Amino acid sequence: MKSAVRIAVTGAAGQISYSLLFRIASGDMLGQDQPVILHLLEIPDGMETLNGVVMELSDSAFPLLESIKIGSDARDIFGDIDYALLIGARPRTLGMERKDLLSHNAAIFSDQGKALDESAKREVRVLVVGNPANTNALIASSNAKNLNPIQFTAMTRLDHNRAIYKLAQYLGTHCSKIKKMSIWGNHSATQYPDISHVEFSGQSAKDLVDGEWVKSVFVPDVQQRGVAIQKARGASSAASAAAAALDHIRSWVNGTESGDWTSMAIMSNGSYGIDDGLMCSFPVSCRSGKISIVPDLALDSTSRIRIMASVDELKEERDAVRHLL
Ligand code: NAD
Ligand code: LMR
Repeated sequence: MKSAVRIAVTGAAGQISYSLLFRIASGDMLGQDQPVILHLLEIPDGMETLNGVVMELSDSAFPLLESIKIGSDARDIFGDIDYALLIGARPRTLGMERKDLLSHNAAIFSDQGKALDESAKREVRVLVVGNPANTNALIASSNAKNLNPIQFTAMTRLDHNRAIYKLAQYLGTHCSKIKKMSIWGNHSATQYPDISHVEFSGQSAKDLVDGEWVKSVFVPDVQQRGVAIQKARGASSAASAAAAALDHIRSWVNGTESGDWTSMAIMSNGSYGIDDGLMCSFPVSCRSGKISIVPDLALDSTSRIRIMASVDELKEERDAVRHLL
């Protein structure tokens, strides 16, 4: 058995965490040979609910769950952690775009960036889920002056998984057969789900789909899937968001499969003409714990226009929080 790793989860009494924590504790994130210690952060108003969640985690008698620490002080909860899953933030309600949450949620991530800088292990890996996830990750990273920006990521894996499902359904196949999907840009309605490079059973998906379907059904449906779920459930996606967070960390740690890649929002290094220093979603591969943007993909003019529209939105969001960077 390996020695335990410490995993911080913020918003631990919330909807996403109610699925996520049990799956982390059962080994779904880091494997069946990896004991875990959970460090759970909540605001004081959420502590009573969190106590109930801790009771249920304890009553599950997970063999891999070594101990649980809870609290409302980020500097204490982030002490010595290996992973930080930053989920705690207000979700949007119907009629809002995710960026409308910036004024409320941005401050959370500047404080938590500083707290990570002060308390976490130097090699901590950070996943931001709380919306607007890309810009919140940018804020957290900018406030963690002594941590490398490459340690900070934001989640677009849910969009990636949604796009895979949508295309698999159209092609009458299983999700596992769809390779090389890409999500570019912001986790927002401007994101660009891109099938240009998708392979399906050795064939290019582009040759198998109707271009009009891609334009008028596939792209908007993936962009608006969060709203569709919110309308149906009366609450934003939770279990699928938790599943995507597990997938994101698993890909980062174990690597992406050969012949495939995934999508993550990471700090741009200028690739594909996307401004340095924006937290933008790219197709990425992971090897030995390192995330690399998939290089040299051919982008047609439609793709470029769509990607740049999302990048423009990321720039607007960044400019709106300059005071926190
Ligand atoms: P929720 O309201 O059920 O839970 C959020 C929890 O965070 C609450 O318990 C709240 O008390 C806590 N919280 C608030 N401020 C906090 C702080 N400063 N420190 C610690 N905890 C804090 O919401 P949810 O459904 O779990 O969603 C959480 C966030 O994730 C939302 O912003 C939502 O929009 C976002 N989200 C992102 C994706 C994605 O793909 N990136 C997917 C789904 C949801
Ligand atoms: C999602 O994509 O489901 C989440 O970001 C929640 C939302 O606000 O849509």
